[in-house]
Amino acid sequence: GWWFLDLAWALLSPVLAAGLSRQESSLLQSLGLSAKPSPKNPAPVPPVLRRMFQRREALPRPHKDRDPCRVEELSVPGDIVRVFADQGRFLPEGQPQGQLCLRRLLFFNLSVLEEGERLTMARLELQFQHNSYPAPSPGQVLELRLYRVSPRGLPQPRPGRRPLLERSFVRLHKSLPLDLSAALKTPGRNLALLLEISASGRTGSLRSLCASSDSFVATSLLVVTLGRQCRAGRSRRSAPSPSVTPSPLCKPRRLYISFSDVGWENWIIAPQGYLANYCGGECPFPLAAELNSTNHAVLQTMVHSLDPRGTPQPCCVPVRLSPISILYYDNSDNVVLRHYEDMVVDECGCR
Ligand SMILES: *[C@@H]1O[C@H](CO)[C@@H](O)[C@H](O)[C@H]1NC(C)=O
Ligand SMILES: *[C@@H]1O[C@H](CO)[C@@H](O)[C@H](O)[C@H]1NC(C)=O
Repeated sequence: GWWFLDLAWALLSPVLAAGLSRQESSLLQSLGLSAKPSPKNPAPVPPVLRRMFQRREALPRPHKDRDPCRVEELSVPGDIVRVFADQGRFLPEGQPQGQLCLRRLLFFNLSVLEEGERLTMARLELQFQHNSYPAPSPGQVLELRLYRVSPRGLPQPRPGRRPLLERSFVRLHKSLPLDLSAALKTPGRNLALLLEISASGRTGSLRSLCASSDSFVATSLLVVTLGRQCRAGRSRRSAPSPSVTPSPLCKPRRLYISFSDVGWENWIIAPQGYLANYCGGECPFPLAAELNSTNHAVLQTMVHSLDPRGTPQPCCVPVRLSPISILYYDNSDNVVLRHYEDMVVDECGCR
């Protein structure tokens, strides 16, 4: 008879595989992903996200005082932090007004933002090669202007249009963060910005002042949003990790889920796995108070003790779950730090 098992397996395994992939895609969907991401040329993880993730990991579990719908590091509400890479290009400097040093079209594809997400913070970061420069001659400054332009058509600000942002600098630093939260309340699917840096002043060579902006390296846009889960106002407190004392009664049991076991290791950057736990055990009559049962479950156990064949015991199920944070590549190779509800079983009950 082993051939029978082999045959049954051969017939069943495509069905199982199909079921598994259906389940996987509905899980991915609930995580806000259209399909399993397969990063093609993944960007390095932005240090700001790495730091945030490490800080969260280092917090003792359960994070009693941590509001899962708030990004403490940036002091804003939010549960999803994304860093978008700039897909723009340099533009010819055109008619120099004063001394135009740098002209670049910045382009960010924000189409992964979902319908129900509310933007709570947007920060543009300009990066230069060096940290700082010798102070220019007195009276000389670099002026930075940022305009919002149409993603289609010519990258020109409409005549008379005021810049989104205007700044003057005596010197440039390696990293220049610009807060665009107020300006980008409605970011749209494609965000195009025109960045101009020019030198101004009455004395000395302006061209040498420009040299510092020649070391421009990259731009990225950090966006914090409140996803649907947090907007629905679901935030719960976590409870202690399960004890390891053996007991036949319903309680949380230890289960470590490794992302490589489920084939997700190439898009999840961190963690590599986590303690998810599960509920297991009996819900016998009479139900003890620690089993967190409902009135219905108490009655069901009573009926079960009278008629074990006719009525099953109540089920041992999660009654309190807590969130974790995951750092991953999304379907567009953006690096995302996101907080996910209901990932860890903290308490079980007979229901
Ligand atoms: C933006 O990204 C999406 C996929 O995430 C892609 O389908 C779309 O074509 C992109 N848009 C542009 C203008 O590149
Ligand atoms: C029931 O809830 C209490 C706290 O409300 C908890 O301490 C206990 O572990 C829970 N019981 C189970 C079986 O998880």
